[in-house]
Amino acid sequence: MNIDPYRPLQDIAAQVPGSISVLDKLGIDYCHQALESLEAVCRKRGLMTGDVLALLEEGQQATAVPPECQEWSARPLADLISHIVSGHHAFNRREFARLEELFAHILATEARRPAWKLLHNLFASLSRKISSHMNLEEQVVFPHIEELESLAKDNGAPHGWRRSSVQRPIRMMMLEHDSACELMKRIKGVTSNFKVPAGASADWHALYEGLQVLDRDLHHHFFLENNILFPRAVSLESLRGVTLGKSRPD
Ligand SMILES: [Fe+2]
Ligand SMILES: [Fe+2]
Repeated sequence: MNIDPYRPLQDIAAQVPGSISVLDKLGIDYCHQALESLEAVCRKRGLMTGDVLALLEEGQQATAVPPECQEWSARPLADLISHIVSGHHAFNRREFARLEELFAHILATEARRPAWKLLHNLFASLSRKISSHMNLEEQVVFPHIEELESLAKDNGAPHGWRRSSVQRPIRMMMLEHDSACELMKRIKGVTSNFKVPAGASADWHALYEGLQVLDRDLHHHFFLENNILFPRAVSLESLRGVTLGKSRPD
């Protein structure tokens, strides 16, 4: 696929195989700059667009296409939801618990250093936010989207069907993504971008490595929701008129 540098980043990240890992490595925020073109983002960052395109094209040649780069824009929303829940949500639950244990080991010896307390407070706050966010998605937002998709297959809502719009909960989820990203930015600041100082313990190395992987995974996770799942759910709702007070007449 020829990559057009004037396309929005969200299209490139969603459709060009291998692009997410290239953009991650370059520190290009395809999640929050999703609507800007690759060319504009490169210009702002002082990167040569031609060099970035060459890297993206190289990434495209890779034989194994990572699942994140599959074309979710055409697959059923229920499949994407299942991918998010069994992949990203399950990973988060495992990783937050594992990293909390590492923190406990480190804090047992380093508790007097204020920077550790600050880092742990930020992490604990992120963990609480992400946990309640994922529960809300799994219990309320995702079932709503699955219902929309299944109604669309049946050609709209049955007479008398009532459901409030999916747009408000989606907006709330996106605001929560932003606030989690802000916390992660502060964690990156406190850890100097996950840079481990010389002589650090094995736990310290493992913790920073785990935080870095978590950061990357959150990025991919929020990208799939903000730029593919949620916009598709909103357009499904508006196309089919399956919102409150727009039930299909007999
Ligand atoms: Fe999620
Ligand atoms: Fe989310």
